[in-house]
Amino acid sequence: MAENTRTEREGAVATVFVARPSKLNALNDATLVELTEAFSELAGDEDIRCVILTGGEAKRPAFVAGADIAEMADQDPMTAKERSRLGQGLCDLIEGLGKPVIAAVNGFALGGGLELALACHFRVASADAKMGLPETTLGIIPGFGGTQRLPRAIGVGRALEMITTGRMMDAEEARACGLVNHVFAPDELMAKTNEIAATIARNGPIAVRLALESVLRGSSQPLSEGLALESNLFGLVAATEDMHAGLKAFVEKRHVEYKNR
Ligand code: COA
Repeated sequence: MAENTRTEREGAVATVFVARPSKLNALNDATLVELTEAFSELAGDEDIRCVILTGGEAKRPAFVAGADIAEMADQDPMTAKERSRLGQGLCDLIEGLGKPVIAAVNGFALGGGLELALACHFRVASADAKMGLPETTLGIIPGFGGTQRLPRAIGVGRALEMITTGRMMDAEEARACGLVNHVFAPDELMAKTNEIAATIARNGPIAVRLALESVLRGSSQPLSEGLALESNLFGLVAATEDMHAGLKAFVEKRHVEYKNR
């Protein structure tokens, strides 16, 4: 039974909550393990086509206020390395889930919290959200992928400023530099995020999965390799019943229900 996380399912959309309210949803090792289990289960759940990751209600609005600082306080080098691999493994699992994961940033997303949000396929935020990588203010460096994914998301210069100063960005600044796609009023965040997720869940699930793969694998390759990958996946999707159903429905001006086949 998960103590620090909760998963809710509504149709084809699952919402994973990080729920450690007394610690602003900070990620201790137990929470990292629970999240890994939750996402592993969702990866294999054929009925779920889109996932939302957000922070449960806490005493201050929080997505995740970071890795658990108290737990890290006496870490030795090997424990620190293993903790980093645990966090990175969770982030890799989310990024490679095969279905879109949207981070609904509903408050503080700091350190490991922002790194978790960066592993999601895109981010939306509430107007009162605050994002940052304050690790260097604590004498450590980001260890769950932040030094790699933040520069890819917002550019090297902006990322280096955030990482070396440790300053927080508000939601508007995050939107302006492309870190989040949309900013919503706090009381509308989940409804608006669910609308986006429902739109994704109506689309061809195999097409969505292959599009994710093409973008994510292609972006770390030279353009010519990425284009070759895209052609191969474009060919592969032609083997699906859903492609034939989707194209035929358009021609015949009908609605289509994709079957994931
Ligand atoms: N790890 C462990 N505990 C954390 C935490 C973290 N990353 N972030 C917050 N908490 C705990 C606090 O210790 C406090 O616990 P307590 O009530 O038992 O003392 C509780 O959550 C509430 O936090 P508090 O600092 O009292 O709230 P605040 O509203 O004054 O400040 C923050 C909010 C987010 C600005 C502040 O908690 C903070 O700076 N947190 C650390 C952020 C950080 O550096 N994260 C990166 C870690 S690598």
